Amino acid sequence: MTKNIVIIGMPGAGKTSVAEAVAEKLHRKCIDIDTEIIKKHGNIAKIFEQQGEKAFRAYEKDAVIEAAKQEAVVIATGGGSLLDPENTEALKRTGTLYWITRPLEELATDGRPLSKGGIETLKKLYRDRKSIYEAAADEIVENTTIEEAARAILAAEKL
Ligand code: S3P
Repeated sequence: MTKNIVIIGMPGAGKTSVAEAVAEKLHRKCIDIDTEIIKKHGNIAKIFEQQGEKAFRAYEKDAVIEAAKQEAVVIATGGGSLLDPENTEALKRTGTLYWITRPLEELATDGRPLSKGGIETLKKLYRDRKSIYEAAADEIVENTTIEEAARAILAAEKL
């Protein structure tokens, strides 16, 4: 069985771009968890606003569990996809987890409901989540550029 390549990390760290670059190089399918949620339930900021974070996390869990059932795909998680230990377990069972890191000052914040409070909010989010990413990650990959991060993942996969 070929394991999935799973990209984890803070919101705005470049997970989707790195996942797409890796998928393209390997001619594999890329599943973006946020995109899957949007396809089924619409705009993420609106979900947070109108239904609350709890509803969003339930949609996210469905998407994560579904994606983790695949084989040999590249999965871009959402920044909060590992908050539920069952999600982490499902992803780890079928995949290798790559933690994409980027300085907090450089994280993209556009359209992200949990990032709109600026750097102080991101610092707190990072404090809360660092240990989760750390514990789950098989490898840490610095996002200096998308291309370099993608190459580092291919090298770690020995591909
Ligand atoms: C979230 C990150 C977002 C999106 C949602 C919640 C989070 O995804 O899933 O806004 O809790 O960190 P990205 O990490 O792709 O921005």
